[in-house]
Amino acid sequence: MTDLIIIGAGPGGYKAAAHAAKHGLKVTIIEEGHVGGTCLNVGCIPTKTYVHSASFEEARERLGVVVSQLRAGVEGILSHPNITLVRGKASFVDGHTVRVGDDMFTASNIIIATGSDSKLIPVPGIDSPNVVDSTGLLQLDTLPKRLCIIGAGVIGMEFASVFNRFGSEVTVIEFLKECLPALDSDIAKRLRKLMEKDGISFHLQCGVKQIANGEVFFENKKGQMESVAADVILVATGRKPRTEGLNLEAAGITLASNGTIPVDENFKVSYREDIEGDASLFAIGDVNGRQMLAHAAEMQGQHVINQILGIEDKIRFEVMPAAIFTEPEAACVGPSEDQLKEQGTPYECHKAFYRANGKALAMAETEGMVKLCCEPEEGRLLSAHIFGAHAADLVQEVTAYITLGATLRQLRDTVHIHPTLSEILIEVN
Ligand code: NAI
Repeated sequence: MTDLIIIGAGPGGYKAAAHAAKHGLKVTIIEEGHVGGTCLNVGCIPTKTYVHSASFEEARERLGVVVSQLRAGVEGILSHPNITLVRGKASFVDGHTVRVGDDMFTASNIIIATGSDSKLIPVPGIDSPNVVDSTGLLQLDTLPKRLCIIGAGVIGMEFASVFNRFGSEVTVIEFLKECLPALDSDIAKRLRKLMEKDGISFHLQCGVKQIANGEVFFENKKGQMESVAADVILVATGRKPRTEGLNLEAAGITLASNGTIPVDENFKVSYREDIEGDASLFAIGDVNGRQMLAHAAEMQGQHVINQILGIEDKIRFEVMPAAIFTEPEAACVGPSEDQLKEQGTPYECHKAFYRANGKALAMAETEGMVKLCCEPEEGRLLSAHIFGAHAADLVQEVTAYITLGATLRQLRDTVHIHPTLSEILIEVN
């Protein structure tokens, strides 16, 4: 019997294990693949390695080095005396028991942190050999001459940007009116236009119908059929929670209709009372479908461990920054202007452009825009949506202000180093 079992050693799981162990809890963490999860092995880290490599060949070379170095780092973290790392596939036996092969583990608290898998679209030809998901794309040994990407979400846009720079001919097909549906539509449109100028073709409001003989067939907004020929087709149409083989039924857990594990505001799973075992069950990260982001999983894990330890925290999960590592970057925190309009929330919108900023000019990074939204009278900051060089770092600054309930005036009254891109934030109109 241990204090805590964690299923999955991705950013949610391994960070939770480290936090728990540091505070004296005995942890068993179970992982069937490599430690580090999607983020480290086939997600954030590999794609950022690609973004920061000059060529596809260099990216391929660096990828193995970067990933194995980070994996060793995570294994180091998990070698804490309070942590036992068990290699294998976990499945529930009852509400407080998990089996791995012939071994049984029991705990008073269990965290499910099994992540997500790519969600493929149900069209004929989706199982063709040249159709890959993001993991498959990262395993290619040669640069595809023609790459067709289905889905202009976060994954689609990041890969479109990087493969275009490596020299592939990139076409993106998206179902909706604009790319990056979660981003402010004004920012998303400007970013897409910039990517079009760089040579990427976009087909918006188009639904893919079939894949056959290396061609993607889709219906355009006028209802006509078109097609794009490609050597490789990337499907980036979302991700789905990974729960297969966990035998959740034995723990009394019923999945929501979208396949996620339903949780309350403290990430506690509701389970049937008639199930044997009285462990507290939690689900963090992609598997609960709340916010499919590595840093969201990490913070959810931290919050769960704090609850187990009886430590009060003030993490504001609704203030969740996110970044898209295209060239240039895009990033956001808080509701977009479109969402504020839709909700009928009164707001003021303030903008500034990179081209008027000294550092941006000196860096030759003049493409970009900052949009800050705040409450009309008090000026309390509500959101920031940015595209341009180092957008993620700028959004991080605003995230701190929003978390602390600060106003635009307080942001403007803060001394900013000159010359920095950060000054764009206080230059908003
Ligand atoms: P996504 O939900 O961001 O985007 C999927 C896109 O595919 C949407 O725009 C959708 O309209 C489109 N789509 C769906 N079906 C389609 C069809 N039949 N034809 C054409 N378009 C279609 O999903 P994505 O990009 O796969 O990412 C999955 C998750 O991983 C997201 O939650 C994302 O936030 C996360 N992620 C985050 C990263 C970051 O924070 N930098 C990087 C990579 C992934």
